Amino acid sequence: MLIARTRSELRAALISLGGAPAFVPTMGALHAGHLALVHAARADGPVVASVFVNPTQFAADEDLDRYPRDEAGDLAALGAAGCAVTLLPTVAEIYPPDDATVVTVSGPARGFEGAIRPGHFQGVATVVARLFGLVRPRTAWFGEKDWQQLQVVRRMTADLCLGVEIRALPTVRDADGLALSSRNRYLSASERALAAELPRRVAAAAAAIQAGTAPAAAIAAATADLARAGFAVDYLALVHAETLCPAETLCPAETLCPAATLCPAESGGVARRLLVAARLGPVRLLDNFPV
Ligand code: PAF
Repeated sequence: MLIARTRSELRAALISLGGAPAFVPTMGALHAGHLALVHAARADGPVVASVFVNPTQFAADEDLDRYPRDEAGDLAALGAAGCAVTLLPTVAEIYPPDDATVVTVSGPARGFEGAIRPGHFQGVATVVARLFGLVRPRTAWFGEKDWQQLQVVRRMTADLCLGVEIRALPTVRDADGLALSSRNRYLSASERALAAELPRRVAAAAAAIQAGTAPAAAIAAATADLARAGFAVDYLALVHAETLCPAETLCPAETLCPAATLCPAESGGVARRLLVAARLGPVRLLDNFPV
């Protein structure tokens, strides 16, 4: 596996691949979810992965400084997974001092994480656009765990005509159902044991809605249930899977969704997602289920 730390090293490595690669962007501290993306991406051609803890997607009071970093472990795992090139850039390689451009996405970036973490999706969209520009991939792979991020990246890639096909893989979970996340390691043993209640109860709410329970009732019951169990729920919401507009409201006039977007729920081709974010001790757990 080739390792590129600078733009020129990356250019040389890409030439040696001889064609547009499949790309797996990460922030490192890799787990089985990331490696599943690398394995799946190999079907598209040689795989380039990036390991870059992107400062612009962290707010000042967030965990940028203590975000888990394990360069040696990540490189070993990526090599074993069959990655052809790993990009390990410095902050200055991605954000040179004369830097003057950011990417701001509206639409799916507006609510939920976008409202709770102002600036977060601008940081994500900006770094993903730059990484796409540097790597010039044919396809790029993301996990469904960060469902809103996936929709933001899809929207940005389409709107800026970046010509990258965005592919996604279902969330990879531990045996007890907890979605894998690099931040799970911040949980104490007792918090980790309780954390699996989140996907269990949210999946049950999704199943109840699917079976005909009114969404508002299922969501209120699950929110109260999670609070009793010890979670501080930031949101539990049923949304249109792509636009992230509230699924129970009319589209587009009331939600200000793009008027050209046919509301999937109204058109009968229902694509809805139950999104949750809840705090447990020092960690915000994010998850989502199809309905
Ligand atoms: O999901 C992540 O790990 C990051 O948000 C990403 C997409 C690599 C951008 O920094």
